[in-house]
Amino acid sequence: MNFDRSIDRSQFPTMKWSRAFLEEHFGNADASPMSVADMDFQAPPAVIEQLQKRAAHGIFGYEFRPESFFEALESWYQTRHGWAIDRDHLEQCPSIMNAISILIDQHSNTGDGVILQSPVFFEFRMVIKSSGRRIVKNPLKLEGGRYLMDFEDLAQKAAVPTNKILILCNPHNPVGRVWTQEELEKVAEICVQHDVFVISDEIHGDFAFPPHRYVPYLTISETAAQNAATCISPAKTFNISGMVDAFAVIPNQESRQQLHSFAHRYQINKVNVFTSAAVEAAFREGATWLDALLTYLQGNIALIRQFLQENKINVSLIEPEGTFLAWLDFRGLKLDAKELEKRLGQDAQVALSPGYWYGREGAGFARMTIGCPRKIVQRALDNICSSFQKQS
Ligand SMILES: Cc1ncc(COP(=O)(O)O)c(C=O)c1O
Repeated sequence: MNFDRSIDRSQFPTMKWSRAFLEEHFGNADASPMSVADMDFQAPPAVIEQLQKRAAHGIFGYEFRPESFFEALESWYQTRHGWAIDRDHLEQCPSIMNAISILIDQHSNTGDGVILQSPVFFEFRMVIKSSGRRIVKNPLKLEGGRYLMDFEDLAQKAAVPTNKILILCNPHNPVGRVWTQEELEKVAEICVQHDVFVISDEIHGDFAFPPHRYVPYLTISETAAQNAATCISPAKTFNISGMVDAFAVIPNQESRQQLHSFAHRYQINKVNVFTSAAVEAAFREGATWLDALLTYLQGNIALIRQFLQENKINVSLIEPEGTFLAWLDFRGLKLDAKELEKRLGQDAQVALSPGYWYGREGAGFARMTIGCPRKIVQRALDNICSSFQKQS
């Protein structure tokens, strides 16, 4: 496992590295690609070997997920997170966002409110809007450099009868919080009391840096679990987003049956032979690779922390407790959001996701994807520093 190794991804139509994408969003096709949330690392060796083996066989007919697949998945969540997933509660979906979209439709009506804890992953906003629901914000509070949930506000929003769903991002993209047991208990208390269905997106669940610990929402209590669906996926964990695979975990039988009927009706639960083989191999043999990755990511974070301490450029790091994303606070530079975006993309030559993409609460911030060789992070920091020193 050599995470320092640079691997050219431009020979494939990679979204993150696409020159057209960089030009369109950052006004600079040559900007260093640090926006899209996938990593510039090869997947675990077991995944690559399994794919090669599968390809060499040469027959790719219809398959089902074997018993061994579910054993590997269950064992992963049990061993790493103490979460005993009942396989009967799993519903396969092509992707997390696909599962969330369907769940929104099934647990609310047109015009109903869906609560979001902004700044938050922008695709939530997109699917709420396109489903004809309303976005109801329960903004996070930034206190002493750490984001916290505003429970008073959440209780008020949840008490409105037409607000039917909360989308929880656990751990949180982009701010990097790994929600604690106590925080999730409060969320559960409020949502159960007001009958607000919780959709917990736990795609970043495997990325928590000690002493922080990912707490699966469904483990909070049986009552909380009966009022929720959690979306899980191997995509981020093993850097296999392009394989397209996810599961909704739904303990409530009626909710699960609804999703199951939909999946059956629209035939979205077919098995991709490569994905299935790769994901099983990852769950079975990917632990050592992931541990090494988590250590490497913490090294990248340490580099950013130290760099920003040593170079006085009025940019600070919101300390990530998990994820492979660094949420940087540029508000001290007193630039408006568009100006900041332009300076980063065109002058510093780094493609960071502008904070306002995650809601207006994110204005003045930018998100850096740090799942890349350390020298890329170093170069981005150097560029940002010289650009802002020169221009401030
Ligand atoms: C919080 C979160 N949810 C969902 C996704 C996308 O997942 P999928 O590609 O499975 O829809 C991402 C990708 O960045 C994400 O960060």
